[in-house]
Amino acid sequence: MDFKVVHIDETDSTNHWLKAHGEGTMVVVADYQTAGKGCGSNSWESERGRNLTFSMLIHPDRITAKEQFHITEVVSVALCRTLQSYIYNKVEIKWPNDIYVGDRKICGILIENRLQGNVIVDSIIGIGLNVNQLAFLSDAPNPVSMYQLTGQEADREALLADFLQTFDEVMASETAAQDYRQRLYRSSGSYTFEDAGGRFEGTITGVEADGHLLIRDETGRMRRYAFKEVSFKV
Ligand code: BTN
Repeated sequence: MDFKVVHIDETDSTNHWLKAHGEGTMVVVADYQTAGKGCGSNSWESERGRNLTFSMLIHPDRITAKEQFHITEVVSVALCRTLQSYIYNKVEIKWPNDIYVGDRKICGILIENRLQGNVIVDSIIGIGLNVNQLAFLSDAPNPVSMYQLTGQEADREALLADFLQTFDEVMASETAAQDYRQRLYRSSGSYTFEDAGGRFEGTITGVEADGHLLIRDETGRMRRYAFKEVSFKV
């Protein structure tokens, strides 16, 4: 995609900035967000000038509203592939769209789609990638940066360029859905989960095309979850 890349020093949130100023196919990168948004009501911690906080505006004409989880698959896989060339340990996707190394979160994704009927008119894909931050101060449970994993500073511009190229490649490929499932965190073995009914032990058996997570619990019962209906426990 022919992204117009705009760098700004500071804004409240790059997702908000694109909603107000975005046109065409665009990427906005901010050195600092005064009100970076995480999922739900969470905020996104990112030290000024140390990380990548950016949002992409795309117009995915071949993806219908029902297929919108495909955007999550493409972005998650592209991030994993990009990061894997910098990081020795396996980079995985914690359902639905957190990027993890081991049990720690290195990158968060906030996708906001604008639909008209069955069509996605705009998709704003916000990405917060922990690059060179040395320590995290917020109460985010388990953040980690590339620097903390590798002991080396990464060039943020080069990393962004790598990611944008990989995003194009994954978007054009036929394998994003399969690659997403192959990269899934805790996809084999039994783990503790929690839903509205409490904690249970279970094994992830799949992710449906629309993004629902499937877990078989210890009694053999299949459980099916939308985003936020189940969480992973230690
Ligand atoms: C999450 O909670 O995991 C999602 C975090 C998304 C953070 C990014 S940083 C760039 C973009 N702008 C925002 O305000 N949020 C996203």
